[in-house]
Amino acid sequence: ANSDNASATELGFKAVAVSAANQVVVPEGYSAQAFLPWGTPITGSYPAFRADASNSGEDQEQQIGMHHDGMHFFPIDQKAGGSSSTEGLLVMNHEYINQGALHPDGPTSADANGGVRPEDEVRKEIAAHGVSVVHIRQDSQGTWDVVFGSPFNRRITGGTEMDIRGPVRGYEKLITRFSPDATETRGTLNNCSMGPTPWGTYLTAEENWHGYFANSAGTQPREQARHGVGSSSRYDWELADNGADAYVRFDITPGAGNADEDYRNEANTFGYMVEIDPFTPESKPQKRTALGRFGHEGVIFAPVKEGQPVVCYSGDDSRFEYIYKFVSSQPYSAATAGGYLLDKGTLYVARFNEDGSGDWLALSLEDADFAAKVAAAEGTTVGEVAFDGFANQADVLLNTRLAADIAGATPMDRPEWGAVDPNTGEVYFTLTNNSQRTEEQTNAANPLAENRTGHIIRWAEENDDHAAVAFNWDIFVFAGEQGTETVVDGNTVVSLSDDNIFNSPDGLWFDYNGRLWIQTDGSDDAPYQNNMMLAANPVTREIKRFFVGPQGCEVTGVVTTPDVKTMFVNIQHPAADWPFGTEGDHPRDAAVIVTRDDGGVIGA
Ligand code: FEO
Ligand code: CA
Ligand code: CA
Ligand code: CA
Repeated sequence: ANSDNASATELGFKAVAVSAANQVVVPEGYSAQAFLPWGTPITGSYPAFRADASNSGEDQEQQIGMHHDGMHFFPIDQKAGGSSSTEGLLVMNHEYINQGALHPDGPTSADANGGVRPEDEVRKEIAAHGVSVVHIRQDSQGTWDVVFGSPFNRRITGGTEMDIRGPVRGYEKLITRFSPDATETRGTLNNCSMGPTPWGTYLTAEENWHGYFANSAGTQPREQARHGVGSSSRYDWELADNGADAYVRFDITPGAGNADEDYRNEANTFGYMVEIDPFTPESKPQKRTALGRFGHEGVIFAPVKEGQPVVCYSGDDSRFEYIYKFVSSQPYSAATAGGYLLDKGTLYVARFNEDGSGDWLALSLEDADFAAKVAAAEGTTVGEVAFDGFANQADVLLNTRLAADIAGATPMDRPEWGAVDPNTGEVYFTLTNNSQRTEEQTNAANPLAENRTGHIIRWAEENDDHAAVAFNWDIFVFAGEQGTETVVDGNTVVSLSDDNIFNSPDGLWFDYNGRLWIQTDGSDDAPYQNNMMLAANPVTREIKRFFVGPQGCEVTGVVTTPDVKTMFVNIQHPAADWPFGTEGDHPRDAAVIVTRDDGGVIGA
């Protein structure tokens, strides 16, 4: 990085202190306001939000969902090459739900209700998941609002019909009663982070999808067991009292259900990155299976170059899971770019070597090294799986974690978001924590036993080529209490102070000037207090706390307008009665709009 970059990434605000207050804290000279809380009507008949949570499932299908997470702002004129900072499509994920707050008196438990749940409660819960596309505009007074009646306003939920694309499309292990040719499915679930594509679409991640399914059989196939599908589901949707197959499908026990055929393969249609075209309201979401099937936290694209492959990175957020990279086999061309680029290519997994070098290991049966490792592993036990080979490349991708085990990838401390420095091309990833790593399991990239506070790793691809199969890495910062040091070549490059102690980094985003924004989802006990967002200068490693969320929340999801003068930050699972203070036990997840009182660039 040169000195111009250093000045463009300087942090010009006064750090805020830790806070345990039930409100958002921003620096002097900044303002914050809640926006698009759960239940805001955005489409259809625009049903008004009812503070007692008595809206129906049908209402919820026309309102903002719960548990806001990753989001992106698409300038309304982006397709025409513009960069509006006053009007655009804000697209956001709804990761999961506060089941207690979603209904007037909490959910009806099946146990207390003859073994079934009221259908409309289940419909509402499914509708509160997924993605919202919201057309928003700033008026002459500077106030942002939903554009009423816009054709772009849209809800995608846990029940929306979607296509399966890429190598897994048509594979027999995705055959369901709903899609006998294994080309379609219904819904996207547990959408954590996301990534905007270079061609103006939005990829939403399916993270902890396994919890939505029940398999009460004694043994599970490897494509479920490696993810921990349980004998009962998180919300008991399969027990809806009308027995509709839209709900029964969540029971994937072989032989279960009320249909001629069961739904044993339903969960195999989840665990992907899902492409949504926000500018084409009638478009059907596409599950892009070439990017692998795992607990996708999100995705981050490298800057595109004409004639070169498209490259993107994705972390698998579970303890001891991996970081992946996809390289398209077809070159990028601005004139023709589209989702087809994500259907053919090579999926790699990262190995972080002890000496600071790294290797991308191909997960392709056409790769000689991988094919040899697969052949050697046949007949052995991999993890807890008796490995009897892969039927084909679709089977490799369906079982991405198992393939990465066999390839010899480095098990990480829960990879969450990634970000690519727009000035240097370096890739950063948060490793949120891993309290279960033992001393024997430490390695140079994950050097802490019982890593409770996490760290941020970064790497540069060989020759600055994102398609390279080698890289060099270092640790950007270790999170922790006051005095926690990050040491490089014997020099202390960061020593955390009151201005920047933090734990469990999760959300991560480079703004358009190259400041790095770090969001937390960790312990809210002393000394850290409520979860927060910090800004970092990637050149100097200066880090300052910029924002503290209300009680009980995680701070996740951040984006600005192209001029970096309006920032949107999401507050997920707030406690108590945030943000409006009058709704008792129905707190509302919401975005927060942050602006500078003098109209300047955020963070500068
Ligand atoms: Fe949904 Fe890994 O955070
Ligand atoms: Ca979360
Ligand atoms: Ca996260
Ligand atoms: Ca997290």
